[in-house]
Amino acid sequence: MSLTQEIENLIKEAEAAVIASKSDEELDQNKNNFIGKKGKLTSVLKGLASLSVEEKKTTGKLANEAQVKIESFVEAQRKKIKEEFYEVKLKNEFFDSLKSLPPLERGTLHPISQIQYEIEDIFTSMGFSIMDGPEVETDENNFGALNFTEDHPARDMQDTFYTKDGNLLRTHTSAIQVRALRNLKPPFRIIAPGRVFRYEEVDASHENTFYQVEGMVVGEGISIAHLIYTMETLLSRIFRREVKTRLRPGYFPFVEPGFELDINCLVCEGKGCSVCKQSGWLELLPCGLVHPNVLEHAKLDSKKWSGFAFGLGLDRLVMMRYGINDIRYFQSGNLRFLNQF
Ligand code: PHE
Repeated sequence: MSLTQEIENLIKEAEAAVIASKSDEELDQNKNNFIGKKGKLTSVLKGLASLSVEEKKTTGKLANEAQVKIESFVEAQRKKIKEEFYEVKLKNEFFDSLKSLPPLERGTLHPISQIQYEIEDIFTSMGFSIMDGPEVETDENNFGALNFTEDHPARDMQDTFYTKDGNLLRTHTSAIQVRALRNLKPPFRIIAPGRVFRYEEVDASHENTFYQVEGMVVGEGISIAHLIYTMETLLSRIFRREVKTRLRPGYFPFVEPGFELDINCLVCEGKGCSVCKQSGWLELLPCGLVHPNVLEHAKLDSKKWSGFAFGLGLDRLVMMRYGINDIRYFQSGNLRFLNQF
């Protein structure tokens, strides 16, 4: 076979191989095979040496043309591979913007947050402002300024988590009363919602972490009548019906007189259940008139100023509202529970 013939064959062979290439890598390999330094064309051209000068010229020219041709095959195929790649991608990744999507799951506010916001609305509509305070408090703000002396047995009423630096996790939002007395000028009305902590055994009606809303009104001539009126307004707005209440004497060092306001258990309608410990009543709301010592401690003249305070337990309120019989649901993160609200 003449060299010319061999080159012609090589071009055909190369064209077929290039067209059959399916990827860039395969293409590069074929290119290398035919026109690379150690490729087939190079080895065919080794036969050039034995040719006459005239033949060398024409065959050499042909070899150059072959090189150019094969290169153009390769580039044409490269373009084709690229186009096919994008065509496939377009087909597979087509996004149908009209297709209906799976239903979107929306979160809801925790029932305790919901009731907190409602209570904030009720109280702001009665002219109260909302105060905040830290969860880690000083002994002074949580106890001392509230008339709990160092050795006061009432400190044992609230089992406390202490921090290493001698502070504590507030056991009640009453710590914010102290901040209010220190920072505001009477007359004032405030509520203070917040998370509180007690070192308690957890059961159906006790948690170590729970929520309260503290309330405090200080002014001239504030009496128990103001307290009762405010509490009744609040409860009827929260429960959207009349709720049976009773006042019992209650002891808290920072109020005098102090009360426990009970409502009839709405879980069992007063018949007796695990939530109300079979009594039919639920301790809902401790309250009382601000103790003169607390006012004096804040450098307020207790002859001039008086006030009332109350502490609302939000967990229990939500349990009453929805008939929930176990406080542990609130912190459980159980979606079957939470999705109901
Ligand atoms: N801070 C008290 C408690 O958590 C409740 C309370 C608040 C009592 C205000 C009286 C007045 O136990």
